[in-house]
Amino acid sequence: MKKAALVVMISGNGSNLQAIIDAVQAGSLAAEIKAVVSNTREAYGLERARLAGIHTLIKPKRKEQDRAQYDAELAEIVKAFQPDFIILAGWMRILTMSFISAFPNRIINLHPALPGTFPGVNAIERAWQSYQNNEIKHTGIMVHLVPDEGVDLGPVLAQKIVEINPQDTLEDLEKRVHLCEHELLVETIHKKILDLEEFHA
Ligand code: GRF
Repeated sequence: MKKAALVVMISGNGSNLQAIIDAVQAGSLAAEIKAVVSNTREAYGLERARLAGIHTLIKPKRKEQDRAQYDAELAEIVKAFQPDFIILAGWMRILTMSFISAFPNRIINLHPALPGTFPGVNAIERAWQSYQNNEIKHTGIMVHLVPDEGVDLGPVLAQKIVEINPQDTLEDLEKRVHLCEHELLVETIHKKILDLEEFHA
């Protein structure tokens, strides 16, 4: 069976990358991770990729480079792998159009909150705090396409509510959110792969 080509972009721990690796290895995701790209050398996800025998690339932004220039170079690197999808799994840089326009409808981002809520960093912590302040009853996660430079914005592919319990510590909530993310991200990539026309040829 044909396999979809994925490039996974990370900046940190890479537990979502691990979920994708596990699904590929288990045969439940018809995909091949062509490369894992990190903007930082310190990302533990790089180690996860190496352990799985996946090609890794480290592309830090140089101080003198502007964002558009960096993103254009990044796009060239990623293009070489001819990805069907680019998965932003904890990629902590906001991408400009010089990257995004190279991959229309192919960039998928994961956000640890519901659509329209807590965009940007520390989303889980901000949700937990809002719950303590009685501002929200639950939080959630979403997987969405990245059509432009909007942060954690774009056509929603999947979303799921994550409950918060009164006795939850921030760490409890983080764990629950991440477990849900691992499942929903893999499930959503699976659906997108099934939607690819060449898989029906
Ligand atoms: C996830 O919570 C993701 O939603 C957010 O960054 C986190 C990455 O976690 N964008 P990990 O590196 O996959 O463990």
